[in-house]
Amino acid sequence: MVLRPVGITGVGMAVPERVVTNQELEQVVETSDEWIRSRTGIRERRIAGADEASSDYAIKAAKAAMEMAGVTPDQVDLIICATVTPDMPFPSTACIVQDAIGAKRAAAFDLSAACPGWLYGVVMAQQTIATGLNQCVLVIGVEMLSKVVDWSDRNTCVLFGDAAGAAVLQPVSEGKGILSSVLGSEGAGGQHLLLPAGGSRRPASAETVAQKEHFVRMNGQEVFKFAVRVMNEATVEVLQKAGLTVKELDLLVPHQANQRIIDGAIKRLEIDPEKVVVNLDRYGNTSSASIPVALCEALEAGRLKDGDLIACVSFGAGLVWGAAALRWGR
Ligand code: ACO
Repeated sequence: MVLRPVGITGVGMAVPERVVTNQELEQVVETSDEWIRSRTGIRERRIAGADEASSDYAIKAAKAAMEMAGVTPDQVDLIICATVTPDMPFPSTACIVQDAIGAKRAAAFDLSAACPGWLYGVVMAQQTIATGLNQCVLVIGVEMLSKVVDWSDRNTCVLFGDAAGAAVLQPVSEGKGILSSVLGSEGAGGQHLLLPAGGSRRPASAETVAQKEHFVRMNGQEVFKFAVRVMNEATVEVLQKAGLTVKELDLLVPHQANQRIIDGAIKRLEIDPEKVVVNLDRYGNTSSASIPVALCEALEAGRLKDGDLIACVSFGAGLVWGAAALRWGR
């Protein structure tokens, strides 16, 4: 079977208006702007309103990506929504988006792969287009982690922000689009980053609520070590798979979790920091939305040009990781 080249033809993003600075968090938990900046690089994050949900932002990001790609709702064959903070366990947030944007022909489902979820979705979408099953797939990464962090736990609440990013994937010309991908998992490390209750193992009860089991729990140092290792390995591997080297990269778009994780990875990779997209100082860790939002901003800033070689790399709860190498353009 001849596989068609597949690329990103449009991107879009949406973030809440409300900015929460580190100084504001000093009033909420025992922390300081200095600690947060020096340990993470984060200065502020966007936080959604009490009455808002993931789909509200996913819809806006999806519409923006479709507008850039020049596609109408009836052209969309499939909507993949990568999220660990869906509006509710079911129906899927993807189905809520499908209805709201009027993509009447589209299939829709949610994908759970934490921070690399959007990259996982991109790779799945690529396969369905490359084989000819679909022509146009919308891949959204959306997260409202502010709704599932314990706002009295300084170890986690300072790290995250809310956002949505989306991309339209379509066939592109030969040599353009996704060149290679790497996806992986290490489920044995699952206990280092989890939300223990609310599923079939620990259904919601008065006890789970009292024990704060509906909030994110994280062993930051273990995740940190894992992150630096896989960011480095996955970037090298994804470029090798495409017959390329790190030296040929025009832009690295890493998951925006912690400036020190990015610094550790690019030091090992020997990548010029000028070639690395960083916006975590303004958004914090937005999980699955982090890479599509960073891509949008890189494009807007003129840092992403036709023919550029880019690598996206991410890690997260699972534990999982993912990377993709792309030649930008249609
Ligand atoms: N303000 C002040 N002090 C704090 C804060 C805070 N917000 N948070 C932790 N501390 C304290 C700790 O209590 C500890 O104090 P102690 O020594 O008295 O016990 C001290 O600071 C050092 O804590 P460490 O955990 O060792 O700090 P570290 O330098 O490892 O930084 C961090 C913590 C930022 C969490 C880091 O480990 C990290 O970024 N890990 C990776 C997190 C990540 O990327 N997660 C991905 C999640 S994405 C997903 O899939 C949902």
